[in-house]
Amino acid sequence: MTVTIVGSQLGDEGKGGVVDLWGDAADVVARYQGGDNAGHTVVEDGTEYKLSLVPSGAVRGKVGVLGNGCVVNPSTLFEEIDDLRERGLDPDVRVAKRAHVILPYHRVLDGIEEEAKSESDQEVGTTGRGIGPTYEDKAGRRGLRIADLLDPEVLREKLEYVVPQKQRLAEEVFGVETGEEFDIASLYEEYRRYGERLAENDMAVDAGEFLANRLDDGDEVMFEGAQGTLIDIDHGNYPYVTSSNPTAGGASTGTGLSPGIVGGGEVVGIVKGYLTRVGSGPLPTELGGVVGDTPGYDEQGEGDNEELATYIREEGGEYGTVTGRPRRVGWLDMPMLRHSARANGFTGLAVNHIDVLAGLDEVKVGHSYDLNGEEVFTMPATTERWHDCEPNFKTFEGWDDVDWAEVADEGYDAIPENARAYLEYISDELDADIYAVGLGPGREETVVVENPLE
Ligand code: IMP
Repeated sequence: MTVTIVGSQLGDEGKGGVVDLWGDAADVVARYQGGDNAGHTVVEDGTEYKLSLVPSGAVRGKVGVLGNGCVVNPSTLFEEIDDLRERGLDPDVRVAKRAHVILPYHRVLDGIEEEAKSESDQEVGTTGRGIGPTYEDKAGRRGLRIADLLDPEVLREKLEYVVPQKQRLAEEVFGVETGEEFDIASLYEEYRRYGERLAENDMAVDAGEFLANRLDDGDEVMFEGAQGTLIDIDHGNYPYVTSSNPTAGGASTGTGLSPGIVGGGEVVGIVKGYLTRVGSGPLPTELGGVVGDTPGYDEQGEGDNEELATYIREEGGEYGTVTGRPRRVGWLDMPMLRHSARANGFTGLAVNHIDVLAGLDEVKVGHSYDLNGEEVFTMPATTERWHDCEPNFKTFEGWDDVDWAEVADEGYDAIPENARAYLEYISDELDADIYAVGLGPGREETVVVENPLE
């Protein structure tokens, strides 16, 4: 059977921890979209692992698969694998032959376009990993795929076609001088070597076939979504999105398994107990703001909400795993979560960071929005209308800071009553059971109500 783990908000919901928590019962952990823009933190026996491309399951000896829906930077891939090896692990990672390859010029173009957009305040705040430009080339049918690295002749042919175009784009459209990232000969040498390493280690696979065979053999497969529903290219808040489909449908197109297989398993929505956002775009329930990211926010403000935002940011360690940028912080947004539950079809929920909110007098939730005098319960389709939404808050009584490891040990009923009321509200609104509650960063600080793979 399969379990798909999906971020229900704007990314950074703590998916890696949940994958890691349930990963024991999985045999294979597959990613279906995104690339090294994802940041996954896994804590194992007090040791912290930060991964951006290798599926988190690799820390626990699971087979990791990067599906065809992923964009792969081979340099990051091998760096992470080598780092895990140096730390005594032996990761088994397979990469879809149909996955697209991030090349150095994609990163350069990512930066150039962000820079150009910033002149009119339109930058997305990307992670700068070349994600968008790589998916553009995929859709434009000029991308390089993992299989092309295994065939030097094809590799050279494709580079010869595409690189001069990219160079002209950088130089003639954006007026930027280019360097070795656009040098066909050195790209060819470097990427041919990556191909050799992939072949030597038998890493390149037909992902759909590989996964179908594993399922036929009775293996449990977990699909690890990166980013979140609200930065999905189709269902997110365009254009402040990533260029792939983190939503559950992506688990089918991004692996080569049928929608029936994905839908026949469980789809678990990961919810952070409040809200964070990296980069620009609206955030109706935002507390305070982050200079450079919150639209129209040019200097650090003051007041209770600013203090609260700073408090939550510090308590929750809300700084980007990949970029180290401070995250914007807000209260939970229910219209966003209802939209997410519909788009993904959650069969269960894992709610994280409940400990971070402990000690506050009250905890608020944006229950609905006021949009042009009308109360709405889900998100409007455009970023402009979403920006106009004013949240109607519902207030919950706060809960005390307690020994969370002890609570996790005792189980769900040991969670403070007010926190349980909060969790039950979320579960009722989204019509999905709570499968897990995160009370701290470690595996031992999580209450597991149900493990969907057991
Ligand atoms: P890109 O994926 O680097 O193109 O960035 C596009 C948008 O998605 C930006 O707003 C990023 O901050 C956001 N983003 C990308 N990956 C993540 C993630 O793993 N967590 C949170 N936000 C992300």
